[in-house]
Formats: sequence, C-alpha cells, structure tokens
Amino acid sequence: MESKLKQSGAVSLDGVEFPVYSGTHGQDVIDIRSLGKQLDKFTFDPGYTSTASCESQITYIDGDEGILLYRGYPIDQLAEQSDFIETAYLLLHGELPTPDGLTDFRDNITYHTMVHEHFKNFFNGFRRDAHPMAVMCGAVGALSAFYHDSTDIHDPEHRNIAVHRMIAKMPTIAAMAHKYNVGQPFVFPRNDLSYTENFLQMCFSVPAEEYEINKIAASALDKIFILHMDHEQNASTSTVRLAGSSGANPFACIAAGIACLWGPAHGGANEAALRMLMEIGTVDRIPEYIKRAKDKDDPFRLMGFGHRVYKNYDPRASVMKKATNEVLDALELKDPIFAVAKELERIALEDEYFVQKKLYPNIDFYSGITLRALGFPTDMFTALFALARTVGWIAQWQEMLSDPNQKIGRPRQIYTGAARRDFVPMNQR
Ligand code: ACO
Repeated sequence: MESKLKQSGAVSLDGVEFPVYSGTHGQDVIDIRSLGKQLDKFTFDPGYTSTASCESQITYIDGDEGILLYRGYPIDQLAEQSDFIETAYLLLHGELPTPDGLTDFRDNITYHTMVHEHFKNFFNGFRRDAHPMAVMCGAVGALSAFYHDSTDIHDPEHRNIAVHRMIAKMPTIAAMAHKYNVGQPFVFPRNDLSYTENFLQMCFSVPAEEYEINKIAASALDKIFILHMDHEQNASTSTVRLAGSSGANPFACIAAGIACLWGPAHGGANEAALRMLMEIGTVDRIPEYIKRAKDKDDPFRLMGFGHRVYKNYDPRASVMKKATNEVLDALELKDPIFAVAKELERIALEDEYFVQKKLYPNIDFYSGITLRALGFPTDMFTALFALARTVGWIAQWQEMLSDPNQKIGRPRQIYTGAARRDFVPMNQR
C-alpha cells in the first residue's frame, strides 16, 4: 500500500504541535506517535473508540449517515449488481476486475477449493456435537501444517497463494464442520458451480440423491456473503492485524480472527436475534418485549438493534430485509417470525426511546431469518459469517504487510497495581 497520509493542519498540546491528517472521508485524525517522546505521556483509550490503529484504503463507514463503502463502492450497489468473487477481487485489489482478470481470479479460487486428503482425519478428533466455530478455529489454524509452501509472508508469491487458498478452502471447511456435526459424509467441491452454489451443495447434498441448486437461495446467500465481507477495523479484523503484525503466517492469523468473531457481542449476535424473535413468537407479544428493552432494571435488549458505529439504519440491514422477502417468497415459506420482525421494527422505529438513542435494526436483525429459511442450523450462522469475513481479513492482512508505517502491535497501559515492594519470605507472612 502506498501511504496517502497528508498533513492538513496541526493541534497543540502542552505547547507541542502534533500533525493532523484528513482522509478521503470522515473525521480528521491527530498523529500522536511522538507523544511519549515529546511529552512523556500516553493516551488512555480502552476499546479504541478514539484511536485509528492504521491507515486503510479498503472500507469506509459513515455511521451517522448509514453508509458503507467497499473501495468507494456503496454496499447496496455491490450486493445488487456484483457477486462474491467479483467483490472479493475488488476488496483485495482495490479496483473492479476486467473480464480476463475476473476469469483468472475465479479459476484460481475454484481450483484451490479441495483440502488435503489427510486433513479429513483431523476432523475425527472432534466430538460429533462440536460447535462448527470450535471446529473452524482448529481446522483453519491447522492449514498452516498442511500448506508450508505458502507461509513465507515475505514472499509475494507465497502471500498470493495463501490468499487464494484461504478464500477457496473456507467454504469446504465450513461445510465439513456442518456435515461432521449432522453425521453425514463430507461432500467434495464441484468446479462447475459458482462459489456460493458450490457451498450450498457441499452443505446440503447427500450421495443418495441428486442435489438441485435453488438459484434464488444461492443468490440470497451470495448477497449475505457480500454484506459480511468487510467492516473496517472491527474486533476480529483488528485481531487478524495484531496477530499478523508479529509476522505470524496467514492461516494462523485467520484462525485468530475466527476465535474473536465467535463472541456473542460480535459474530454471535445473529443467532441471538433469531432466538429472541422466536421467543417473542407472535405479533401481540411485541409490546411486552419493547417494554422490557426500555426498562433500565431489566438486562434484556432488543437483539439485532443498535450498533457501536451506525447511529442510523445499518445499510446492510435494508439489503438483508429485501433478500429475506425474496427468499421467503421464492421458497413459498410463510415464516411468522418474519412478520414479528417487521412489526417489531415498525413499532421500535416509532418509539421515542429508540428514536432518541438512535437505535436502528442492524444486519443481524434479518440475516438469521434468511439463513434459517435456507436450511442452516443456528450453530452454523457464525461460521457463515467467518467464511465471508475471511475475504476482508485477508485483504486487511495483505494491506498491513505492505504498509510502510506497519509496526508490531503493542498497546501501552496505565499501571494501577501495587507499588514496588520487597518479597516477603513464607515464614514472615
Ligand atoms: N435494546 C435496548 N436498548 C439498547 C439497545 C438495544 N438493542 N442497544 C443500546 N441500547 C441502549 C443502552 O441501554 C444505552 O442506554 P443508556 O444510554 O440509557 O444507558 C444506549 O442505548 C447506548 O447503548 P450502548 O450499549 O452504550 O451502545 P454501544 O454503542 O456501546 O453498543 C451494541 C452497541 C453493543 C451493538 C448495542 O446496541 C447492543 O447491545 N445491541 C444488541 C446486540 C446486537 O444486536 N449486536 C449486533 C451488533 S452488529 C454486529 O456485530 C454485526
């Protein structure tokens, strides 16, 4: 990455000037890298709410306006007009591909989808009822033991192969985790299918009969993957960058990202939102839950509502809602939970509490309903998120390695523990 940091001003602190940079969009940032040297002080910022950890040219979010751009392109345009492979190319390379570029990239991904035969033995070590995310953490980390020829992060060719392998093998591994969990045989990838169609057939086909791809289901899942591909410096992406900053190999870095994504405050929220909608069950019970969500003494929150960055409608939620509608129509499913979700959204968006706190539906509010309609068990939801987010993680990892300002990640702390004291021998305690 060529750094585009340009000074646009300065701020003074204790008589020392610090440069200010302006990005393409968004708030200006103060460069405090010399703070420790100049003022012998650090900043205190738990959760990094006021800290830009890096320069990035991949994704931009405007939380107040409800805007999400991948390499400058609005998320709704990509979800409607592009597909998984083309958007993955865009995130990795910065520009939309030419027809030949796209064909080459698609071929590269398609021809890396199989996993080493011995890799299958690895699965037998897990309990049958293992959560797919537990399997994914272990299996993805284990890839570095199988693909030594792509772990030299200083070799651009190694890096390139690792990127293709990562994106290509994630659906195979996620589908294997699902098949292992439900006690069915693993299904080989098929190179005549699109990325998402192939994933569906690896999850749902069985050797006993022909599997027919439902184009609408595949297209909806493709959209879900695009919507989840990247979201700038969120917890799991920052984890991947932090792991990668020490020079760890890409497979290990993505395994670290998967571990972080697993948490209920991050990738696990779509499961929680669906469970909540099922618990509400019918439209007449909505007021009771709205009341609970507003009660300060009740820990209950409307799952799938609110976001740290979006203080407006999450742009991914609008695309998701439309896709949910399309899938339910196409599959001729009348899901009462969808009716509950739409009515809950309508009531909440007219309620003073939610309006004042700028709490809008986020992507998780509708994605669980769609994934359930497509036949995925709730345990698989976060694994599907990990599959899609792998593209963002690996693009951000690549960008970090080529950043001229890159350093090993090493936050500081303010120490408030015991002051220096001398060891007390056992017989004097
Ligand atoms: N239901 C009811 N009240 C809420 C909700 C909610 N879903 N979300 C926030 N609030 C209230 C809080 O109680 C708080 O009220 P107060 O100011 O009176 O104390 C206020 O809104 C601000 O909430 P914070 O938790 O401080 O906001 P923050 O930005 O830290 O949290 C979060 C964002 C964690 C997403 C929160 O909105 C939440 O818990 N939502 C439900 C879980 C969820 O859907 N997570 C998925 C996020 S999207 C993703 O990860 C892909």
